[in-house]
Amino acid sequence: MRVIESSREFAEALDSERACGRRVGLVPTMGALHAGHRSLVERAAAECDVVAVTLFVNPLQFGDPSDLASYPRDLDGDVAKASDAGADIVFAPSVPEMYPGFPEPPAATVHVRGVSEGLEGASRPGHFDGVATVVAKLFALAGRCSAYFGEKDFQQLAVVRTLAEGLCLPVRIVACTTVREPDGLALSSRNTRMSVEERRAALALHRALDAGLGALRNGERDLDVVRALMRSEMQASPLVAVDYAEVVDARTLEVAEGAEGELRLLVAAKVGPVRLIDNEGIVVRAGAPATRGLAMAGTGKER
Ligand code: PAJ
Repeated sequence: MRVIESSREFAEALDSERACGRRVGLVPTMGALHAGHRSLVERAAAECDVVAVTLFVNPLQFGDPSDLASYPRDLDGDVAKASDAGADIVFAPSVPEMYPGFPEPPAATVHVRGVSEGLEGASRPGHFDGVATVVAKLFALAGRCSAYFGEKDFQQLAVVRTLAEGLCLPVRIVACTTVREPDGLALSSRNTRMSVEERRAALALHRALDAGLGALRNGERDLDVVRALMRSEMQASPLVAVDYAEVVDARTLEVAEGAEGELRLLVAAKVGPVRLIDNEGIVVRAGAPATRGLAMAGTGKER
């Protein structure tokens, strides 16, 4: 396992791997690795010859300074976990290495129009510009590769796909399914910041998605009814402050008008000190029962 802090060294390391004919897998993360990240690294290791995990808490994508300050950091633990999951290289740059002159804004940033604007984009202004900018830099350094992203952050996945396609980057985006706790809570680095009661209340997000999926499977075709059902499932817990409960077209992320095609149910809520998001996919065919769907997996132009 090689731990690299310099951008130039990272780019050269992956260039020389490719020069030897090896396929590169890239797993961008902000560290605090858990089993969700592990599943991405394992998939990359199964499909590629060399796997690079990046560990960088990207200040550009945090609106709230206290969220950035309290984000968990454990370089040694993360290096051990990445290696154990099958990574060959860890890239862990400092903030000045990625953004010389920080906190001055970087000279060049990336904005992805459309898919970055609603949902998380509306609740967290600037967030996806920060994500798109850091991911564009990581892709530029990494070069031709397959890059692994979780469906847990479904809108981020759409932003990254649009970025890679829109800028003709030589990166194949691979979508990976969400890893959950046995009780359904989606794994997140922020889960550890909840108390026992908040952790229990957080299950309302998963229950809301299940209620929405259940309604669609049982033939409900009024999406406002589905949205209201998801919202009331979350509102039932006093510890949960709902941000949104939405049903969108899985490809465009636009608010779905009718219950047909590939849909994505997305929820966001604040539980105690943390903001949680979750989502599920479903395919609704006209005149046929709805089936749970892995929307977006395998879609998008692959290069
Ligand atoms: P981070 O939150 O560390 O997540 C890194 C990757 O792990 C993302 O692709 C995310 O979707 C995936 N992931 C997180 N929880 C998961 C789960 N429970 N199951 C499956 N995959 C999961 O997302 C970021 O970092 C950053 O925004 C980043 C893309 C690295 C840019 O800074």
